[in-house]
Amino acid sequence: MIAPEFIDEVLARTDIVEVIQSRVVLKKTGQNFTGLCPFHNEKSPSFSVNQDKQFYYCFGCQASGSALKFLMEFDRLDFVAAVETLAASAGLQVPQSVAAGTPERHERRKSIYHILDQAAVFYQRQLKQHSHKTQAVEYLQGRGVSGEIARDFGLGYAPPGWDNLYKDQAKTNLEHDLLIESGMVVNNKDEDKTYDRFRDRIMFPIRDIRGRVIAFGGRILGTGVPKYLNSPETPVFHKGRELYGLYEARKRTRKLTQVLVVEGYMDVVALAQNDINYAVATLGTATSSEHLERLYRLVSRLVFCFDGDNAGRSAAWKALTVALPLMKDGRSARFLFLPDGEDPDSLVRKEGKDKFEWRLDQALPLSEFFFNKLAAEVDVNTLDGKAHLSNLAMPMIQEIPDGVFKQLMIGQLSTLTGLAADKLVAASASPPTRRAPPAKPGKTVDPPWAGQSLDYAGYDHRGDDQDDAPDGYQAGYQQAYTGSHNGVSSHKPTSQRPARRQDHNDFARLVDAAIAMLLRQPELSQQFDEYTYSKLEAGPGCSLLLELIHAVLAREITSPLMLLASWQERPEFEYLRALVEQEQLLDVSELPEEFTGVVNKLLQLVETHSARQLRTDLLAKPFSDMSEAEREMLRKLVKAGQQRQ
Ligand code: UTP
Ligand code: MN
Repeated sequence: MIAPEFIDEVLARTDIVEVIQSRVVLKKTGQNFTGLCPFHNEKSPSFSVNQDKQFYYCFGCQASGSALKFLMEFDRLDFVAAVETLAASAGLQVPQSVAAGTPERHERRKSIYHILDQAAVFYQRQLKQHSHKTQAVEYLQGRGVSGEIARDFGLGYAPPGWDNLYKDQAKTNLEHDLLIESGMVVNNKDEDKTYDRFRDRIMFPIRDIRGRVIAFGGRILGTGVPKYLNSPETPVFHKGRELYGLYEARKRTRKLTQVLVVEGYMDVVALAQNDINYAVATLGTATSSEHLERLYRLVSRLVFCFDGDNAGRSAAWKALTVALPLMKDGRSARFLFLPDGEDPDSLVRKEGKDKFEWRLDQALPLSEFFFNKLAAEVDVNTLDGKAHLSNLAMPMIQEIPDGVFKQLMIGQLSTLTGLAADKLVAASASPPTRRAPPAKPGKTVDPPWAGQSLDYAGYDHRGDDQDDAPDGYQAGYQQAYTGSHNGVSSHKPTSQRPARRQDHNDFARLVDAAIAMLLRQPELSQQFDEYTYSKLEAGPGCSLLLELIHAVLAREITSPLMLLASWQERPEFEYLRALVEQEQLLDVSELPEEFTGVVNKLLQLVETHSARQLRTDLLAKPFSDMSEAEREMLRKLVKAGQQRQ
């Protein structure tokens, strides 16, 4: 038996695209990779690999599965051998029952795990039994840590004295060596002295995802330097990679859906003490992309917690830049800034769970933090500032993997700068970005083997053969949607003067978002009354949205599928279907609030839009021909317009 956690970990470190790509020629088509199916004979490719879902599917023979299944089928391996293969390429230690690699190295690592585990037991025992235990117990109590939490996190006490652990554990030469190798004791060759690394400290065992102790952090009781002492790098511990509390978080929650990333050991412990069981800490290092990759394989929602001061802000920005290339659709990253002088530990103890979680709900979405920060650096009211903003933002946005989120970011930048999205993309396309060649929305990046004589004709885009694709297999549809930013205006062309184009873009974006939400949850229509909706009639491109809303409100429609099906005969069907199949950024629970927000924004836009229209009409009229009411209106409009500038 292989532990399920280990298989999780293996899959978490595996990219199905890499696995399959080393065996089958794949070409990137939109969100997916496609190629000739290795499981049946075919001339044109119907084999598709979805990186987000870490899943493959063949439209021809319906073969499907995970990376593991693929290896079992393709390499004809049994389950254990397939796990071993994946583990080996992920650089993971395979559990003993299925040990690969050199037996000696494996034995050695096993012994290190064992000695670390023994050390944890030793420290826990000291917290209960040592003659000086009172000061340790009182310290923990003073910080609000209960016995139960201390037990769950395996907290312990390294007593004062040079060699308590060493004396207790090093009964043999092998144990002596292992204690040194595991970083628990230090050997001074000059004086030929061996002593404990951790003395008179509260001990926090750091566990890997399977719960094995891999290192320790030790906090001084009271003040002194270093405040925290950590294990050195060892064969089983790589500091920049591990997250304190991840194992505990997975154990303490039924299903982990969101992870809060904090800085300190005590933050994680104090949060858990206050029933917030989904926090992890980077071990005094900056957030790395390895950290984030690991977390995003487990959950789709991350919240980063930082101090509200300058140092915190710049650490947050750093985390944002690390996160950008990982922001596939469906993943979210938000940023919580704490009040001055507080950390999660102090704050949650002061305010309690509810208030803290309320703060979490207010955390800034990545997009907001991104644009707030950049907009603060330039004067967006000047042309020069707008150009500068787009120069700062575009190279970073280009780091985001292709998808809806990237398009939304470009759309937002376009709103801020007044530059059309395609112009922004074209302008940023020349200097190559660090990670990926810049991709134009709607076009796929050609893989290195592009131009090979494989016949992909007729497959790239919506082929009829994809009709019965399972969820998420939308090679062409997603592209069809993300490629045309103005989904709405494209199915209903409107002639517009250049000055109005921005309005139309905003409308299109919001209408797309509202429709996408309705298609997931038709009852959202009930958020507003008919009268409020009627105000949207003046909005460009709002008619389809209103039609859908009315269809739902008239109780003709009760399920997403019905809503879509009732439009089957209409020209807008493809557009609606693309929206349905689009990867969703929001959780269903977030929809009502988001929908309300989007509709309110639309109402606001309609108001400014019709105000502008009115102003234009009024301005075209000679002042002398105006009624007093019209003059009054004009004065008001001009004034309001000035205030908005
Ligand atoms: P902080 O200095 O912010 O301390 O370090 P803290 O977490 O609030 O600690 P308490 O509340 O005073 O106990 C944040 C993290 O940085 C690492 C540790 O991982 C710590 O939790 N650190 C800090 C060290 O590794 N060594 C140090 O000397 C200090
Ligand atoms: Mn603290």
